[in-house]
Formats: sequence, C-alpha cells, structure tokens
Amino acid sequence: MSPGPKLVVKDKNKKNVFWPSDEMRERAWVGTDRIYKDAAKSPKDFWANLARDGLTWSKPWKKVYEGKPPYFKWFLGGQLNASYNCLDRHLETRGNKVAIIWEAEPEFERERKITYRGLYREVCKFSNVLRKLGVKKGDRVGIYLPMIPEVMVAMLSCARIGAIHSVVFSAFSGSNFKKRVEDCEAKVLITCDGYYRRGKPIVLKNQADVAASAKSVKKVVVVKRFDNKTKVKIAMKKGRDLWYHNLMAKASEDSKAVPVESNTPLFLLYTSGTTGKPKGVIHDTAGYLTQAYWTTLFNFDIHEDDVFWCTADIGWITGHTYNCYGPLSVGATMVIYEGSPDMPDWGRLWKIADKFDVSVFYTAPTAIRMFKKMGVKWPAHYDLSTLRILGTVGEPIDMETWHWYFKHICNNCCPVIDTWWQTETGGTLVNALPGVGPFIPTVAGRPFPGTVADILDDKGKPVKKGETGYLVFRPPFPPGLLRGVWKNPKKYRDTYWSEYGPKVYYTSDGAKWYDKHNIRVTGRVDDVMKVAGHRLSSAEVEDAITSHPEVIVSAVVPKPDEIRGQVPVAFIVLRPEVKPSPEVEASIVKQVKKEIGPTAKPHQIFFVKGLPKTRSGKIMRRFLRSILVNEKLGDASTLQNPEIVPYLKKLVGYRGK
Ligand code: WT7
Repeated sequence: MSPGPKLVVKDKNKKNVFWPSDEMRERAWVGTDRIYKDAAKSPKDFWANLARDGLTWSKPWKKVYEGKPPYFKWFLGGQLNASYNCLDRHLETRGNKVAIIWEAEPEFERERKITYRGLYREVCKFSNVLRKLGVKKGDRVGIYLPMIPEVMVAMLSCARIGAIHSVVFSAFSGSNFKKRVEDCEAKVLITCDGYYRRGKPIVLKNQADVAASAKSVKKVVVVKRFDNKTKVKIAMKKGRDLWYHNLMAKASEDSKAVPVESNTPLFLLYTSGTTGKPKGVIHDTAGYLTQAYWTTLFNFDIHEDDVFWCTADIGWITGHTYNCYGPLSVGATMVIYEGSPDMPDWGRLWKIADKFDVSVFYTAPTAIRMFKKMGVKWPAHYDLSTLRILGTVGEPIDMETWHWYFKHICNNCCPVIDTWWQTETGGTLVNALPGVGPFIPTVAGRPFPGTVADILDDKGKPVKKGETGYLVFRPPFPPGLLRGVWKNPKKYRDTYWSEYGPKVYYTSDGAKWYDKHNIRVTGRVDDVMKVAGHRLSSAEVEDAITSHPEVIVSAVVPKPDEIRGQVPVAFIVLRPEVKPSPEVEASIVKQVKKEIGPTAKPHQIFFVKGLPKTRSGKIMRRFLRSILVNEKLGDASTLQNPEIVPYLKKLVGYRGK
C-alpha cells in the first residue's frame, strides 16, 4: 500500500484522539469549528442559507420554518424538483462528467459509466414512460431492484413527475415486498429479471410477482439485467408486465421536471420498529434534499475530482441519501457495485477502489469486521493511495475495528468519520467533520451544525458527562427528519414524540457525552436489532415464526456476534403434539425467509416449553437477552411463571450468577 497524503495528525496530549492536518483543514469546505457557533445563533437562518445556496428553486419559500408539534415544515410555499436538482442543473457544467460508475459482479462484464447527460436522458425518457402508464403526482411506485443504474433512473423519474417512490431491498422476499406495496397502494412496480450474487444469477421477477398480485398494482416494468445467454425462467403476464427496454425505445426525451411544494413527500421508506408491521417513513422534498446535499458535501468533503463510493444497498436509507440524492445533487462521481464483497475473493472491493481511484469510501462496521477477519493481505495488494476520507455507518464501531480500518485501508492517513443517523433522520446527524475533527474511535462526534441534540435521563433531565441517557433532538428539527408515517399518524406520534412530549424527537438510542461537544452512541434501547448493519425488529421475526402452523408462540432477541454485531436468536414454543426436530427447525427457517428474507434468518433456535411472562401476559424478552449473554438477571418476582427462568438458564447453558 502506498501512503496517500497525511490528512490526520495525533493529538499531542490525548491518546486515541486525532485531528485534521493543516492540509486537510485547508482543502476542506469546513475547516474550523466556527460553523457550529454561527449555526447555533439561528439554526433557521443557517438552514435557510444552505437551502438557498445548495438547491435550485423554481419558486422561493415564504416562510422558513413552522412548528406545530409533533409536526413541522421547512421552506413553506417554496417550489423545486429533486430530479432537476440532481440532473438538469448540472448539464451545462458537468454534462460530460461521469455520474455513475457501475461495476457488475461477474468480472467478464465491463463496467458501465453514465454521464450526467446520459443519466438525464434516461430519466427524461423513463419519466415519460411512467406518465404513459398513468402515474400521476402523488401516486406511489414500488421499486424492487438491485444495485444497477436503473434503480437511480427509476427513483429520479418518480421524483421528476412528483410521484412517491417506495424502494424495497431486493434481498427481501416477495411477500415482504407485497406487504409494503399493499400498505402504500402502489400503482406501478419496477423490478428486473434478476441479478448476480456470489457468482449465481438470482431471479428477482418471480419474487416481484408475489407483490404484483396486490390489488393496487396495474403495471409492472421489468428491466432486463441478464443477457440472452443467461438461462433463467421468468413469466411475463400479458397486459400487466412490460419490458423496460421496449418502453424506453419509444419514449420521448422531452420531459419537464414538475416543481412541487417543499413539504411534498419525495419518497417512503419502510423500516422496522417495535411491532411486526414495518412503518412507511415519509420524507419530504426540500428539507430532505437540503440535508442530503450539505451532509454529502461537508462530511465527505466532495470536490470536483472526487470519486465517492458508499457500499450501502439502495434498499436502505444510506443508499437513498448517499447513493442517489446526495452525490447526484452535488454533482459527484459515484461508484456502485452489484455484487458480493467476496467475489471472486476478499480483495474485490479494494480492487474496485483501486481501479476507479476512489477517494471517499463509506461502509458499515460489520463489513470492516469481516475484512479484518479475512486478513490484511487483501487490501495490501491494491493501491488505495487515492483515498482521502473513510466513513462508517449503521451501528457502533468498536476500538479495534476502527483502528484496523484506519491503519490498513488508509495507512493512518485519512479522517475516519463515524456517522450516526437513522432511516428517520434522512441524512447524517452526529459525526465529526473531516476538516474540523476530532476523530475519536467509538465516538460518533458532534451534532451537525444547525441541529440541536441532547441526552436525557428517564425523567427528561439532561444527563451529566459520562452518564448514559437517551439521544433526542430539539426544535428546529433537522430538515431531513421524517414528516410522518404513511397512513399512520398515531404510530408517528407514539414512536417519536411521546417519550418526552411532542416537542422532543426521541431516537430510541442510548448515548453519552464524551466531552462538551462529542457524543458516544451506545445503541438501540428498544426491540430493534442491528444485524450486519441491517435494521430488524424482534416482533417482525416473531410474527414470521408464529405464522408457521406448528408454532404457538415465540420470542426473538439479539445475541452479540463478532462479525455481524448482533444476530437474532429465537425461543419457540411448538404445539404440544409437535416434537422438535431438524425438519421442524428447517421449515421454520424457510418460513422466515419467505416472510421477510434471508437477512432475518434466526442464527439459533431453542425449542422451549414456555417463555418468561409478566402477570399481564407480556413476554419479557429482557430475561432471554440476559440469559444469552450470561448477564445478571433482573428481578424475576414480577413474572407470572418464575420457574421458567432456571429451566431456560439450564437449556441455554447460562454461566452468569
Ligand atoms: C440505527 C438506525 C443511518 C443509516 C443506516 C442505519 C444505529 C446508525 C450508527 C453509528 C452507532 C448507529 C442506531 C440507529 N446506528 N449509525 N454511527 N453509531 N449506532 O439506519 O437502519 O434506520 O438504523 O442504527 O441504533 O438508531 P437504520
């Protein structure tokens, strides 16, 4: 590995604290911490300036901010279009600049490079296709595509005509996609024949067909990813299913971007909460885009010659914001990769980074832990000296993993940005800025300029330094924050605005102050797991398990895992006449894969005669969690069935006291 420029220096007095070098400060968009103070004087003015400078508006807003707890609006009365901001406005200066570099998993396929003009043309055409299929402003469109450029085309085409997209992770099952399609009543679905994963062609269309049977669906557009030599069987339903390339061949390139009012929904993204039913998080247009634009620019310090690579799948919020709206609105070049990091070997990502001179690399701690396990020989084999900034997202990063990343990927030369945020926040909210620092392993950093974070105790009082509490945000709320839950205002209020009242956004994360400004996030305090960076709720997996005819009840809890962070473990009570067996176990696992997808597969299953329950019949997952990690158990006297505890301890092999 040849070292790149030295962009970080060690703190003179404190071990494990790093600062940007003079070179880094000088080239950074933000090179001093003055921005925090200035923004804090009037966050509303701060964001108003950013929205004016960063975005192109068709009509200026009349009012910057309005709060009617738990609702709020930004840039009221303003008009703009997200696809215009990602495409049209770049044409003059960046028309021939590459917007997307796509790398297929099979190495025999050549990469595709799509310029801003090329992407603009595709989006114009496809937005006309959508219009022809009857999609109107405010209609929902379900997108179920892997990491291929057409997924960005589909999203931006919806945005262009004011339709609301709902992208669903392509590794989720068809029935999971269907639940989401039914909830948002999507009119049109966009999918593909399939994609490559671990060297094999995976058929997606058959899964999409499950969702296409939903009542609201009128048309299904199918992108052809495979060539004619790839033998896969898919069925096209006459009158409903249409090939993307056929529709595009006849589509006009003339498509006006429809301006929408700032607070108009841009997209829905379903995410797991504490109940079995995923929530459709609503993101607006102007606030979301303002945050996507400026967090991309400031966090990753994007300049004209940068090559940005965020490894997240488009099916998650990280993919939406940092594989689509962020990089495209700032006019960056970005890399997307279709496949698995181990194809054909564990050097693949570094090979891609080397090949395309990637300068900003953003991934999840779970991926880094995997690379760490596979050994330094893989990154060491490639030239990664073009890297300038590294980022992580999705879960807390441990000390060792942070240092491995810092040392072996950038030769201790680049700022490592640990970004805390959520599906609900739309963009990053707590992290160090590369030209400001400090970079402290296991500490996410400072709330983004213009946002007001706090850490509160059970009673709602701010905690003292070193004490753990709950991370919250106060008004004015970050412009990228969710505006509602689709068709479920109660859920919106109950989940985010009831813990401390409607004027405080509750994140469900534990946190503490590392010092006056910097925050260490300790993780979820609700029944949401982070499995390999993916968000999964206990209740969702339990519902899938309980839908199996031989199951009476189940409880799913996370267990710490060296690579994946957490893995789901299931405790299952079978019907009395059913004997536990490998066959029953396999068929339950199959059921989970069918209902949710392979990411939710229980890592371990315990068949039990009962579960710890309160007197009111609520299952106490807390006990199961503690038993799994040999932790001291809480007071069992409140249980309806305390005798279950010694039984479970024995079964699991509890070694605690
Ligand atoms: C949850 C949100 C943000 C995009 C991807 C995840 C956890 C996220 C960090 C971090 C510690 C983190 C939190 C949060 N989380 N980033 N840097 N340090 N924890 O979005 O799937 O909605 O998950 O991920 O627990 O609440 P998500």
